[in-house]
Amino acid sequence: MQKILFATSEVYPLIKTGGLADVSGSLPRALLKLGCDIKILLPAYPGVLEKAASVGLKQIAQLEIDGNAVIIKQTRLPGTKVAVWLVDIAEFSERAGNPYCGPDGNDWYDNHKRFYIFSKAAELIALNQANLDWQPDIVHCNDWQTGLIPALLSLHPDHPATVFTIHNLAYRGLFSHQAFAELNLPQAFWHHERLEFYGQMSFIKGGIAFADYVTTVSPSYAREIQKPEFGYGLDGLLRYRSDSLAGILNGIDNDEWNPGTDAHLVATYNRRTLGNKRKNKQALQEKMGLAVNSEIPLLGFIGRLVDQKGVDLILSQMSRLLTSNYQLVILGSGFPHYEQTLRNIAEQNPHKVAIHLGYDESLAHQIEAGSDIFLMPSIFEPCGLNQMYSLRYGTLPVVHAVGGLRDTVVEHSLDEIANGANGFVFQQPEGDELFAALERATLAYHQPDVWKKLQLNAMSQDFSWQTSAKAYCDIYTELQTK
Ligand code: ADP
Ligand code: GLC
Repeated sequence: MQKILFATSEVYPLIKTGGLADVSGSLPRALLKLGCDIKILLPAYPGVLEKAASVGLKQIAQLEIDGNAVIIKQTRLPGTKVAVWLVDIAEFSERAGNPYCGPDGNDWYDNHKRFYIFSKAAELIALNQANLDWQPDIVHCNDWQTGLIPALLSLHPDHPATVFTIHNLAYRGLFSHQAFAELNLPQAFWHHERLEFYGQMSFIKGGIAFADYVTTVSPSYAREIQKPEFGYGLDGLLRYRSDSLAGILNGIDNDEWNPGTDAHLVATYNRRTLGNKRKNKQALQEKMGLAVNSEIPLLGFIGRLVDQKGVDLILSQMSRLLTSNYQLVILGSGFPHYEQTLRNIAEQNPHKVAIHLGYDESLAHQIEAGSDIFLMPSIFEPCGLNQMYSLRYGTLPVVHAVGGLRDTVVEHSLDEIANGANGFVFQQPEGDELFAALERATLAYHQPDVWKKLQLNAMSQDFSWQTSAKAYCDIYTELQTK
């Protein structure tokens, strides 16, 4: 039985800001099913401690890291048998809200220290020096917050093998030289082949440079990040690591995102009862104050309101959207200028555009079910989960051909229906192309037989973790036998 320490900074349903949490909640469950002995290592944020208390929470170890008292607590991922170990320091457990930034929206001033201590705790556990009587065979790290772990472990000759998964290279975990000097790291790490990155320290570079194996979350993104356009200055290093780099498409949690059983919906549905989807559209139109009309194509968008998600492309087409026969519902939060612009548009067009700013899990499910078409015009998208959720809900996606969107959405053209077409894809991240793809979608939408065929194609696809979790296991096995 492979023993895996899975280090991550968010796990659904304990704490979530984006897709990393979804993956960290569902992949470990799939690995458990495949017979792995898996422990998730997570910072003990206040919200996590609160939720964990109702599942069961106990202290299992106390460590000292560079003069800081660090407590390790154990809980379980709610509704599962997956063990979660929480790293409890005041810098995590006394900071409510977003895990990475304060109420003013700025990153916490000591993020380098917070995630350094987290990484040191992972190092001690990995070396079986945390009085837990358990040593992993593999330490699987995720994104910049855990990038120091492979670097720290490289200092020990007999360390467990390390896997580092890049969920988003745009977040490189950059800190000043001063911050580097504040951490108890070997001076040798300040080198352009290690943590130093154009005069700064990059945490994600630690993961990429030092892990025994690097993965990312879709095959296309694995290719893209090796090019300057998507490489954020790390493409050279990624090309250097290309023999130990793989793109493994994320799976989704088929129980959580299942239109047949989804408790957030007014009416559940599946391929045979697809007609019930209509009731969710009506409920969404009512809830969001849109004109209730089953004929108007209802477009949905859910996501962080940041440049990555192509909000500019949607805004560039807004006047065309408003003069054409569409409705648009948006759920998200992010950059204040996007929030303000979208709020103004919704206020001026209350029956056509509705926006909910903030985070709302239940509304996300209702938008997936109630919309006809899902907009995901991301400029880049390592994997993307929302397009997979929308496919499962028979809500056909309009996407830019990039990263995981390219790997999951197949363009519809009349002769391609039989070949698994399930959505609408545009090639260049330009507003006109987005609108043209939307027009193709609308044309199909007004041909009910065609639309239904596409919906059934979409809903028949298997995005479960089975294949991808097995791919991770194969990497673990390969590393163990090296
Ligand atoms: P990313 O991780 O880049 O944000 P993904 O598509 O991988 O993008 O995952 C985003 C996840 O976060 C999805 O589960 C999506 O439903 C959820 N999400 C994003 N914004 C919101 C929001 N405002 N309210 C509820 N869920 C949201
Ligand atoms: C990141 C990416 C997203 C991906 C998610 C989970 O946040 O932006 O594309 O789906 O991680 O891997």
